[in-house]
Amino acid sequence: MLGLLGEQGSDFAHKVDYAHDVVTIISVVCTVLIVGVMLYFAVIYRQRNGKDHETPAIEGNNTLEVIWTVFPTLVCIWVAWLGYDSFVDLRTPPANAMEVNVTGRKWAWDFQYSNGKKTTSELVVPVGEPVKLIMTSRDVLHSFFVPVMRTKMDVIPGRYTQEWFRPIKTGDFQVFCTEYCGNEHSKMMARLKVLPRAEFERWLADDSEAKKLAAMKPSDMGKQLYVAKSCNTCHSLDGSPKVGPSWLKLYNRQGTLTNGQSYVADHNYIKESILNPSAKIVSGYSAGMMPSYDGQISDVEIESIIEFIKTVDGSQKIEPEVTLPKRQDAGASAASPADRGKALFQDSANACSGCHSIDGSRMSGPSFKGLWGRKEKLADGTEVSVDAAYIKESIWKPQAKVVAGYPPIMPGIYEGKLSEENINDIIEYIKTLQ
Ligand code: CUA
Repeated sequence: MLGLLGEQGSDFAHKVDYAHDVVTIISVVCTVLIVGVMLYFAVIYRQRNGKDHETPAIEGNNTLEVIWTVFPTLVCIWVAWLGYDSFVDLRTPPANAMEVNVTGRKWAWDFQYSNGKKTTSELVVPVGEPVKLIMTSRDVLHSFFVPVMRTKMDVIPGRYTQEWFRPIKTGDFQVFCTEYCGNEHSKMMARLKVLPRAEFERWLADDSEAKKLAAMKPSDMGKQLYVAKSCNTCHSLDGSPKVGPSWLKLYNRQGTLTNGQSYVADHNYIKESILNPSAKIVSGYSAGMMPSYDGQISDVEIESIIEFIKTVDGSQKIEPEVTLPKRQDAGASAASPADRGKALFQDSANACSGCHSIDGSRMSGPSFKGLWGRKEKLADGTEVSVDAAYIKESIWKPQAKVVAGYPPIMPGIYEGKLSEENINDIIEYIKTLQ
């Protein structure tokens, strides 16, 4: 009726919407009536000319009392029935439903089909057939919400929960994590792709991508991950120091840590440094710069990265490259500029948050809190006020105007990586951090 909940994608969506509309209409009508009568009485029975207006003493009215007791009771029972009826539908998957296993983790959704096919952040289903999701979490509480299907359910570690829906139309729809689960909660999204039956069958049977990845040499896979996991933001391949040590001749390198102990960059050291980056910091670098990849990277991926590091031995020049499919941020087009900017800021591919805080605390670069419009003193003694032009220049040409007191370590990798539009979104986000 009212269309307040948006597009309807499942066969029970209209029931949910109907219950929602009924409750909304009753609430609005009652509020308007009650407040209207209240205001009307307040005006006509107000104190005038210093005199009270005595009202008649009414002892009771059986007819009225029966009406205002029975009628609301019937309405409440009707509303309860509407809710119960759709609730039963929502919680009872048909026996012939196709089952998909869903695992939530900080901060992505993994899906696995009965034939073993796995996807991340993309749930593909056929139209017109019931789909049952069997869900669990690897770490904390999440919640799987598909607004267009009108269904959501908590996803809990150590327990299985389920939800189901029967799509009534094809298309791409948004899935959200709708329970706060940490830093990147707002980015924990997935895409629901509803395909015609035949197309779905083709998709399900297609394992070419998995074969391609599995057939890849570990060192080649590691080379792709070097870019895909944004290692390249902070670790060079040519020996030049960036935010972190270069990977050139890293394997089995020996040196000193900030605590004076020595280290050997063997398998164990590299794995520990990926999963728990602050455990052992190489002398000359600071702790807290690298985000932990715990839960973001598999053992196989770590091993292939180590295999790649072994190849960076100086015997040949290695250029980074990536051909892995880049995960699309499904919600990006719908979000506001500031939201898109925030997503770019948090995106580990850009690693802004590795050096810029949003709470005013000092990291390797100036905090973004209160940055917009701030007057900054530069290393050369001049002063700039932070406007769009300055921020754009500082992203594309980080060394052009370095704020006094900060090391000139921001990598010049963003020109070509971030478009003018991206930068405008980031500026809108910075403006919200006052
Ligand atoms: Cu997962 Cu919020």
